[in-house]
Amino acid sequence: MRGAPPLPTPRGELSEALVAALGGRGVTRCLEPDSAADEALSLWILYELHHRGFEGVDDALEWDPALLVCRAHLEHDLEARWRRRARAVVAPAQQRCEAGEDLAPVFFDLCETDTGGGSIASFLQRDADLDQVLAVLRQRSIYHVREQDPSMWTLPRLDDETKAHLVAIAADEYGNGDPARLHAVLWRRGVEACGLGSGYAAYVDEALPEVLEQVNLMSMLGLHRRLVPAALGHLAAFEVTSAVPSRRVARGLERVGAPEEMVDYYREHMVADAVHEQLAVRRMLGSLVAHDPDTLPDVLWGGAVCLLAEQATATAVLAHVGADREPAVA
Ligand SMILES: [Fe+2]
Ligand SMILES: [Fe+2]
Repeated sequence: MRGAPPLPTPRGELSEALVAALGGRGVTRCLEPDSAADEALSLWILYELHHRGFEGVDDALEWDPALLVCRAHLEHDLEARWRRRARAVVAPAQQRCEAGEDLAPVFFDLCETDTGGGSIASFLQRDADLDQVLAVLRQRSIYHVREQDPSMWTLPRLDDETKAHLVAIAADEYGNGDPARLHAVLWRRGVEACGLGSGYAAYVDEALPEVLEQVNLMSMLGLHRRLVPAALGHLAAFEVTSAVPSRRVARGLERVGAPEEMVDYYREHMVADAVHEQLAVRRMLGSLVAHDPDTLPDVLWGGAVCLLAEQATATAVLAHVGADREPAVA
C-alpha cells in the first residue's frame, strides 16, 4: 500500500521470524516471544497489517491464516493480562452502576482514579528541557500518527444512535472535511517544525515496549466485534483525560520555546477534547449502555485499560528520558 512504513528492526526471535516471513524470507513460525519488547513489537507488526501494511509486503498477508493464528495467541495473553490488571479499577465502578447510579458520574470518577506514578504532561509543563521534550514526542509519535483510527473499526458494528455520536466526536479528529485539519496532519506539521521525522511509524524502532503495548491495546479493542464496548470505553476515557494534560503540554512547549506548530497541536486538543469528553461519556457511552446494558462491564474495562496503559507508558517514558535526574546547571 502506498505510504506504508518499512518493516521495523526485530527485537527478538518472534519479531525476527515475522519480519523474515513478511519479507518473503521464510514461512511464518509462531515462536514464543523472548522478551516484552519482542512480544509488543511482534503484535504491533501483526496489527499493522490491518492498518497500512508494510512497504514491499503483499497486502494479501493481512488475512494469512498462519499470521492470524500467531496474532490470536499473542492477543489472548494481552487481553488476559489487562483483564487482571484492570480488575481493581473496574470493580468499584461496576458496583456503583449496579446499585443504580448513572454511568456518567461513575465513568468520570473512574477516569480520576489515582493510578500512582508520574504524569508526562506535568513533567513537560514544569521540568523537561528541550531534548527531553523531543524524546517524549518521538515516543508519542507511534500513537499520534493514527490516534482514533482503531476505534473507527467499531462503526459498522454500532446501533444508529451510538454510531451518530461516535461520528460527531471523530469529525474533529478527521478535520471536519478539511484534510489540512486532520489531527494526524497537525501532528506531522508540529514534529516537522521540531526537526523530527513525521513519517508513519518513524520512531517505531525506538518505541518502548509499553508504548507499543498501549497502541496494541487500541488495535485489539477496535478489531474485535465482541470488544466494541471496551473500544468505546477506551476512547471515552482518552477524551476525558486529554484536555487538561494537553493544556499542560502546551504550556511546557511554550516554556522551552518549541515551534508554534507543535504547540498548536496541543491547543487544538485543549479545546476539542473538552467538548468530546461530554459527548463521549454522556451520549456515546450513554446510548451504547442504554441500548444494551450488558455492555457495561466492558465499557468500564476499556476505560480502565486506557488509564492504566497510559500510566505504564508514563512510567516507562519518564524513566527513558531521565525525568528523575537533576536538571543540568548552566
Ligand atoms: Fe486528536
Ligand atoms: Fe478528541
